[in-house]
Amino acid sequence: MNIFYDIASLRQHLGKERHIAFVPTMGNLHDGHLELIKQAKQLSPCVVVSIFINRLQFLPHEDFDRYPRTFEDDCKRLAELDVNTLFAPDEKILFPTTQEFLLALPPVADILEGEFRPGFFRGVATIVLKLFNIIQPNLAVFGKKDYQQLHIVREMVNQLNVPIDVVASETVRALDGLALSSRNQYLNKEQRAEACNLYQTLLDIKHAIISGNRDFWALQDYATQSLEKRHWKVDYIRIHKRDSLMPAHADDTRLVVLGAAWLNQTRLIDNIEIDD
Ligand code: PAJ
Repeated sequence: MNIFYDIASLRQHLGKERHIAFVPTMGNLHDGHLELIKQAKQLSPCVVVSIFINRLQFLPHEDFDRYPRTFEDDCKRLAELDVNTLFAPDEKILFPTTQEFLLALPPVADILEGEFRPGFFRGVATIVLKLFNIIQPNLAVFGKKDYQQLHIVREMVNQLNVPIDVVASETVRALDGLALSSRNQYLNKEQRAEACNLYQTLLDIKHAIISGNRDFWALQDYATQSLEKRHWKVDYIRIHKRDSLMPAHADDTRLVVLGAAWLNQTRLIDNIEIDD
């Protein structure tokens, strides 16, 4: 595997490639990331993975400093998957000066995650666009685990005419349903056992909707209360429209249930699409 830490040598190396698939990550790779990479490999002979923990998308009180950094293990996992190219710049490379140009995002960035993490998607979109410009891939793979992120990247690519196909990859889960996430390792044993109840709660809403319950407010409230009874602190449990990501009304179809909640100091997010 070729590892590049600076832009010029990466660009020189990629110059000869005719078709590139790109998987951006913040490292601490788990089977969810690896699934994205496997999908990328099926779509292109040249797969570029990036590892960069992007300060722009962390609020001042968030876990930037304690975000898990496992570069050597990550490299091993990527080499096992036969990834051609890893781009692992440090902050001086991507932010040689203060990043003052930041994207202005549409209202969809202010709801759900954006309501609780103001500025988060601006930081994500800005770094993703920078990485797209550096790597110039033909396609980029993103996980449905971060559903709103995927939506916003898609919208950005469409509205800014970025010539890159955005490919979605299904959420990879542990056996009990918990979506894999780098933040799961903050959980102790007891919390880890409890953690699958976020997914279970979203699944309960899905089943209720499929069996004909269209009182979305009641479903959201009931789900929130049942998690709170289990000592979660719920940021939101919401039923939205998949295509616009705006709140759903009773007669809408193509829905997605999204949730974010805290187990002690750890914030988990998840979502489930509903096919109706
Ligand atoms: P990170 O959290 O490292 O995730 C990188 C990619 O892996 C994202 O597209 C995310 O949706 C996907 N992913 C994470 N867990 C997954 C799971 N259990 N199943 C499927 N896909 C999963 O998302 C980011 O990094 C950053 O915001 C980034 C896009 C790299 C910009 O900094």
